[in-house]
Amino acid sequence: SEPHSCISDSLSLSVDKDSLQKQIDELSTFSDTPAPSVTRILYSDKDVIGRRYIKNIMGLSGLSIREDAVGNIFGRWEGSEAELPPVATGSHVDAIPYSGKYDGVVGVLGALEAINALKRSGFKPKRSLEVIMFTSEEPTRFGISCLGSRLMAGSEPLVRALKETVDGQNISFFDAARSAGYSKDQEDLSSVFMKKGSYSAFVELHIEQGPILEDEGVSIGIVTAIAAPASIKVDFEGNGGHAGAVLMPSRNDAGLAAAELALAVEKHVLDSGSVDTVGTVGIMELHPGAINSIPSKSHLEIDTRDIDEKRRNTVIERIHQSAIAIAKNRRVKLSDFKIVNQDPPAISDKAVIKAMEFASQQLNLSHRLMISRAYHDSLFMARISPMGMIFIPCYKGYSHKPEEYSSIEDIANGVKTKWEPTINSAIW
Ligand code: GLV
Ligand code: MN
Ligand code: MN
Ligand code: MN
Repeated sequence: SEPHSCISDSLSLSVDKDSLQKQIDELSTFSDTPAPSVTRILYSDKDVIGRRYIKNIMGLSGLSIREDAVGNIFGRWEGSEAELPPVATGSHVDAIPYSGKYDGVVGVLGALEAINALKRSGFKPKRSLEVIMFTSEEPTRFGISCLGSRLMAGSEPLVRALKETVDGQNISFFDAARSAGYSKDQEDLSSVFMKKGSYSAFVELHIEQGPILEDEGVSIGIVTAIAAPASIKVDFEGNGGHAGAVLMPSRNDAGLAAAELALAVEKHVLDSGSVDTVGTVGIMELHPGAINSIPSKSHLEIDTRDIDEKRRNTVIERIHQSAIAIAKNRRVKLSDFKIVNQDPPAISDKAVIKAMEFASQQLNLSHRLMISRAYHDSLFMARISPMGMIFIPCYKGYSHKPEEYSSIEDIANGVKTKWEPTINSAIW
């Protein structure tokens, strides 16, 4: 194959940092909680406004826009050899409750700025370039992570599950989708599936969400693999009753069962013997939720991950055994133990990694290989396309909280690194 040539040598490319920062700030105002926090939940009014904002920028950039049945948004810049599979890049703009303004957003707005910079320079792509804004990378509303990309990768179990999926307000997935203007001819979600080979490569730019790059003073993280995530929903039921009148020996407290299971999750994770195993009980709800009523129902949602899938699965099995034992000892009913997802890890494509290393060298940016402990839509794009991810530093590794921050200089470095692997089609 031909020797690599650095596109930044032949074109004068520059990131419009002011405009990119302005867009990041503007998008962050579409939030259901006050600044500096951001809350943008799937198919909510704020999500719809955010989507409109992204489509508007795509339009101004001259991209042709397509939306699929669940609202994955595709903006395409047609190449001179439009019959070739495009190179795609993108991320998400939904935001979990009380999070920050960079998670996902950097990979969508940064991608659009990369396109704009290429257009300003007079560059003409051979392969088409596509920016993707994925639907619901975050599991907040329906408990399903990477909903859009999981479907794109052809998940039949998800198609089946969505027919029965409701949110916390008992609104069905399809009603919610329709209220945002999607899924008009009900439930034919196989139209969202994409064939393997639809893209010649997929690259996602994202804040690291960890402290390594900042600690080491390194500008660019090149992701080699994404850790394997899983999530579980658990329900316990007891008899409840009056907090004063029912004496302790007569109780079967569903709340205490939940508390005990939360501690068991921590124990099983620590017992794995590896710091790479993590587990979190981020949701624990008690019913009826009154100070003077013994909890008659409890609901937990458990997130556990590892770079080693087998070890992660062992933890899940132990959590299940604990749930059964706790229910028995406390004479409550384990009314549900549901593994919502139990995904394998994903490995980045070697050629994409090489391209990103080459780009960092050309740009004189310090870089290192690393794994992603957070999951991303790239986890699923890897099933249909060669995949790679670019990480940039973020303040103290903060993420999923309002203090999340990345400097516009670091973001611009990430955008520049994207150019090279995204358009040097000699590589693909
Ligand atoms: C995605 O936001 C994750 O939890 O990794
Ligand atoms: Mn996130
Ligand atoms: Mn993200
Ligand atoms: Mn993520």
